[in-house]
Amino acid sequence: MNKAMNYETKITEIRKDFPILNSEYIYFDNAATTQRPNQVIDAVEKFYKESNANPLRGLYDWSVDATEKYEHARKTVANFIGAKDSREIIFTRNTTESLNLLAYSYGLDNVNEGDEIVVSILEHHSNLLPWQMVAKKKKAKLVFLEIDENGVISEAEYKSKITNKTKIVAIGHVSNVLGVTNPVKNICKYAHENGAVVVIDGAQAAPHMKVDVTEIDADFYAFSGHKLMAPMGIGVLYGKFSLLEKMNPFLTGGEMIEYVTRENATYAEIPHKFEAGTVNAAGAVGLEAAIRYVESVGFDFIEEHERRLTTRLMEGLKKLGYVKIFGSKDQSKHCGIVTFIVEGVHPHDTASILNEDKVCIRAGHHCAQPLMQFIGEGSTARASVYFYNTEEEVDRFLESVSKVREVMGYGA
Ligand SMILES: Cc1ncc(COP(=O)(O)O)c(C=O)c1O
Repeated sequence: MNKAMNYETKITEIRKDFPILNSEYIYFDNAATTQRPNQVIDAVEKFYKESNANPLRGLYDWSVDATEKYEHARKTVANFIGAKDSREIIFTRNTTESLNLLAYSYGLDNVNEGDEIVVSILEHHSNLLPWQMVAKKKKAKLVFLEIDENGVISEAEYKSKITNKTKIVAIGHVSNVLGVTNPVKNICKYAHENGAVVVIDGAQAAPHMKVDVTEIDADFYAFSGHKLMAPMGIGVLYGKFSLLEKMNPFLTGGEMIEYVTRENATYAEIPHKFEAGTVNAAGAVGLEAAIRYVESVGFDFIEEHERRLTTRLMEGLKKLGYVKIFGSKDQSKHCGIVTFIVEGVHPHDTASILNEDKVCIRAGHHCAQPLMQFIGEGSTARASVYFYNTEEEVDRFLESVSKVREVMGYGA
């Protein structure tokens, strides 16, 4: 079997694991959420059928089993992102909750009047609004890293904006609009030299590339399970032990305490200090299954295949001659995300016309309105692929896009 055949066979086999893909729909909204393989669905079902009880509370077998599965998932997540200690992994609902936890538990206690918080113009609202809140409450200044025409934050840019006034740098690993990967490792190094901590929003990175928080030297790293084939409602916050240990809890209540009196409470050790209330154990079990699945496919394959799909998609759009693509001209810099406009057509019309052909893409501001203002558009269309998508699907997508202007009355 030659390499191309091996490749095709692998995709065909992978697609059999995803019941929802066995349909006429083409799903190109993977940056919003991914589809789930049977392995994840089965793991969640098995948990509810065989181990369901409130974890971390009961002394009976089912509860102990649920607790063990939940904590095992934590270890798997730690290994997946290169954390040294599984206590550095906090389960949250999603990236948004992880970043809010940081803003409330780290930001409000460590940022003071006159300090600066550095964010980038690329940020998803989830990594902007929490820092706007901290800046407003603490009378600190939000400083923006700008991008060049390729969506890149230059070394000169971050070196001019990160100073000894900077307390926090909050930066996305991969942009959900332009697909560009930010130089997070270099930013961490420079921020640390200036005494700042770095919060990385990894929502669009962790599902698509090997992330090693220790190698990056990230202080905090957040991502969502549902963008990585896990159930909705399970997210991750990684934090360095030394930082998490000193932080106050975000939410208080059951499960996060050591001892409670009428007036006071002492808190549990990390990570439980940050996991108040009944936890999403089935979600964590599903996330573990999703990680196992990603690992079985392998990031080498995932990255290569996504590059292949993105190249075909971008080249096809460019050939049409009336499609504006945002971000880098270099396909390899898009991390599976292509944001575009069919000239003269509102992106919502483009998405609706594609939907008639059963092609699912996103249209809107992508929860990144400051970036939209920067690129001068209120709304764009976005196609985002994952490793289970195929070249045939890209071709059907392109065929559908090629009809958009005609449907809108521009003539053939
Ligand atoms: C870069 C980025 N950050 C944060 C989020 C928020 O993720 P969630 O809605 O899972 O909290 C998203 C979701 O699209 C994203 O793309």
